[in-house]
Amino acid sequence: FHVDWDIVTAEKAGFDHFMLKEIYEQPKAYRDTMLGRMADDGKSVNLKELSMSADYIKSIRKVHIVACGTAYHAGLVGKSVIESLARIPVETDVASEYRYRSPIITPDTLVIVVSQSGETADTLAALREAQKNGAKVLAITNVVGSSVAREADDVIVTWAGPEIAVASTKAYTSQLIAFYLFGLHLAGVLGTQEQAEVEALIAGLHALPEQVESILEQAAVLKQVAESMSHHKSLFFIGRGVDYAVAQEGSLKLKEISYIHSEAYAAGELKHGTLALIEEGIPVIALVTQEALYEKTLSNIKEVKARGAHVLAVANNGSEEEVAKSVDEILAIPKTLPILSPALAVVPLQLLSYYASLALGHDVDKPRNLAKSVTVE
Ligand code: G6P
Repeated sequence: FHVDWDIVTAEKAGFDHFMLKEIYEQPKAYRDTMLGRMADDGKSVNLKELSMSADYIKSIRKVHIVACGTAYHAGLVGKSVIESLARIPVETDVASEYRYRSPIITPDTLVIVVSQSGETADTLAALREAQKNGAKVLAITNVVGSSVAREADDVIVTWAGPEIAVASTKAYTSQLIAFYLFGLHLAGVLGTQEQAEVEALIAGLHALPEQVESILEQAAVLKQVAESMSHHKSLFFIGRGVDYAVAQEGSLKLKEISYIHSEAYAAGELKHGTLALIEEGIPVIALVTQEALYEKTLSNIKEVKARGAHVLAVANNGSEEEVAKSVDEILAIPKTLPILSPALAVVPLQLLSYYASLALGHDVDKPRNLAKSVTVE
């Protein structure tokens, strides 16, 4: 009796690649990141690990979110979350820009650094720059003892568990959960949200893990789409609001592991240049999850359709019939509150990238030229 066994195969737990395993671990990562961070009655968020006082929170005049790569994309969603829940102005920057552009950091600036590894050189330098200027730094990181975690004034750990694949998936979505929790924490102190809205958001957060599971059940459809998409040299992602932030992450994911050129555009910006690149048959992935912006995005979809684009839309359950009339293919995702939608909408894009990379025969977990953690400048 002989069993082939090696540690790497065992760690993949039956999945062909770490990336796929990590995509499927997201429901658990969501639950673990929320665990113990809600009040017992489920009516508020309680981030007991934070040392920042209510008085300090009331003194915050602006927030800077600083990160690299996928963590930066989480920060783009974080901006919308904090601005809408706590009504504090937020700027999101890539760390390599932030540290050299003489950012205006004052003691009433809260700087949030986001880093899966907690070791990214530019992010760490941004943290130090912020502290040198008298600002407090909150770190959102996946590694408890990392440099970023040790040096920050406060830490929210994302309990995503070890992420091995170079392309980040569960760390990104857990960072989104951390932003939702922190946004609600701020709102609780500042009184910027009605209690009913807070409770609706908390209920929405609790529903996310199962909703992700239902998206994962559609993997076979996404595999087919990815296979046909993989023959193209270039494609586009479009969206508005947080859908645009998700589009940027979807485009990065595809570039990282499939090496297919893609660009993410704010749907309303198309006509300012990018529309010139749309030609017959080019795939366009449109995110249409924001009801308030729905008509606007549909009209942008019509613009690319009129130029021959092949459009795949990611839309909410309930609106998919309407959206389907204007697109070639549709993927319906469960409905949630608009601000929570990135935590669902990114999942099909992760799977599309995974299956495109697989179809092209690339090394999914270890893409060329890239490293999991960039500890040099
Ligand atoms: C590298 C990784 C990316 C990651 C980025 C930031 O480029 O390949 O997946 O998003 O670094 O890493 P961090 O550990 O700071 O989140």
